[in-house]
Amino acid sequence: MKKLNIVDNSGKLFYIGGVVRDELLGRASFDVDIVYEGNAIEHCSGFGKVVRVNPDFGTVRVKIGAEEIDFASTRSETYPRPGHLPVVDKIGCPLKDDVFRRDFTLNALAKSVMTAEIIDYTGGLEDLKAGVLRVLHDRSFIDDPTRIIRALKFSVRFGFKLEEHTRKLQEEYLQNINYDMCYKRIKKELMETFNLNSQEAFERFYDEGIYKLVSPRGIVRPAVNVSEIVNIVGVRNPWIVYVGVLDLSILELTKIEQRILKDFMELRGQKFENDFDIYKAFSSVAPETVAMYGVWVDKAPVSRYVATLKDIKISITGEDLLALGIKPSKQYAEIFDAVLREKLQHPDMTRDDEIRFLLTL
Ligand code: CTP
Repeated sequence: MKKLNIVDNSGKLFYIGGVVRDELLGRASFDVDIVYEGNAIEHCSGFGKVVRVNPDFGTVRVKIGAEEIDFASTRSETYPRPGHLPVVDKIGCPLKDDVFRRDFTLNALAKSVMTAEIIDYTGGLEDLKAGVLRVLHDRSFIDDPTRIIRALKFSVRFGFKLEEHTRKLQEEYLQNINYDMCYKRIKKELMETFNLNSQEAFERFYDEGIYKLVSPRGIVRPAVNVSEIVNIVGVRNPWIVYVGVLDLSILELTKIEQRILKDFMELRGQKFENDFDIYKAFSSVAPETVAMYGVWVDKAPVSRYVATLKDIKISITGEDLLALGIKPSKQYAEIFDAVLREKLQHPDMTRDDEIRFLLTL
């Protein structure tokens, strides 16, 4: 865990949440959350140069040496609008109250910066050992349904199981979803979960009905290995391949994401007669769209495209046609297509072969 370059003998400064969990699991952690039991703005501003303060949340960013570190005040929260961001109830509350606003016991562990003692108010250590995800109270998913996707993410990432009562609470919530929720957070969790490219996440997301958080419409997942298709196509951030078949309009998609889905909608009704059709369809769309076709429509043409067709390119250009005395016109595209069609059948064709062939047209 990152060593803090500060002198603090208050005994009230704690690492908290993911960073403690990850250290106990022997995994790397990317962001370090630190909480002060009390008012962090007052207490931590003296550690270095204050870069930013947010009095509403009681947080302060301080530059210590070359590093900028965020310190949060302990805070309790309530959810006046379930499914939306909580509001801060009290800043500077006891650490215990801060811990109990969190999602799962494994994320509710604190570690004293001064003594390195682990503070465990919720049984997180035991659950960590047992490989179990457990919510802290029965309203957890009602307050924040994104936690259902977070549970999937953590359970796939760490190989953990949902504790029985937590699983029941999930089932109950999924039978009675309140669709008035913050979809920005849902999108973030979907992305983080499915960018793990996990087949298990795919199967559980559909089989356990977690997909209903996004779209109430029923869906049966295809019996394919998505993770394998994603790998053969080479999609780097594959989340949309896993969920793009749902109605995602509710998620505020980027222009690129909209394009991927639009192209998929256009392709999904198509059946391909030959290699040329496959090549034409897949070479002009994003890898995500190709993988989506493989998952949700038919894997065979995708495998064929990736293994055999993808790297075939014709060598002749417009300049070659001009040199042969063919005037630029619509005919160029037809010639290129005809040469491509031939080359897909004879990939060893050289540039001279291509020219010889086009002269026969
Ligand atoms: N948290 C929560 N409910 C959420 C999101 C976050 O209770 N819906 C709490 C958890 O205690 C979590 C902490 O806020 O540990 C920080 O959240 P985040 O950075 O999203 O999670 P990490 O646990 O750090 O997970 P990751 O490793 O995926 O970043």
